Amino acid sequence: MKKTIFLSSIVLATSLASCKKDDSAADKGADKEKTKPAPAEVKGAEGTKVTPDEKAPEEAAKPVATDSAEVKASATIESKSGSKVTGSISFTMKGDKVWVEAKLTGLTPGEHGFHVHEKGDCSSPDGKSAGGHFNPSSVDHGGPDMEMHHAGDLGNIVANAEGVAEMKVELPTSFLSLDAKADNNIIDRAVVVHGGTDDLKSQPSGAAGPRVGCGVIKSL
Ligand code: CU
Ligand code: ZN
Repeated sequence: MKKTIFLSSIVLATSLASCKKDDSAADKGADKEKTKPAPAEVKGAEGTKVTPDEKAPEEAAKPVATDSAEVKASATIESKSGSKVTGSISFTMKGDKVWVEAKLTGLTPGEHGFHVHEKGDCSSPDGKSAGGHFNPSSVDHGGPDMEMHHAGDLGNIVANAEGVAEMKVELPTSFLSLDAKADNNIIDRAVVVHGGTDDLKSQPSGAAGPRVGCGVIKSL
């Protein structure tokens, strides 16, 4: 949120600066000219954001990745490191939000590190084929609510006494994305569930212990 507000401030400041330039460059005496640049700037800002194309009727029926369309992906978690963990994770992106919904069974009760790892490869028995945490910004490991964290740092998922864990979180697309063109796109990467708790501070991965579940994120 802070980042967004900060960026907006920069954009606003830049717009204002260019408005002033336009004003000073425009005719000195003409009062009308002074009011013109402002609406022009607003139009420009909107214009760069969305440019809806006119589609032929048959084309318009197809799902298109616009701001209003939903993009979905999912990962089926398979057990690793001799665990009994299974489950599924779904990802839904709409506008600038991504919802992550997880249901896992076969866990030990308590908190389990829950991350998106770099490689969409769950082939090894210990899950290490999935590589390290997905970290396109090359920053330190942290928790999802912290100022700095990996794009893959989803924190911990909590299992009840029966070993069942359910989670639903809403994240901004600045955190992670399902957009193939985005740096933080998680499609074809992997969700990894750990045997232990992510302490949200140990580097590089929160000391969350063995990988007890792994699933490749596939677009739907
Ligand atoms: Cu992990
Ligand atoms: Zn991390």
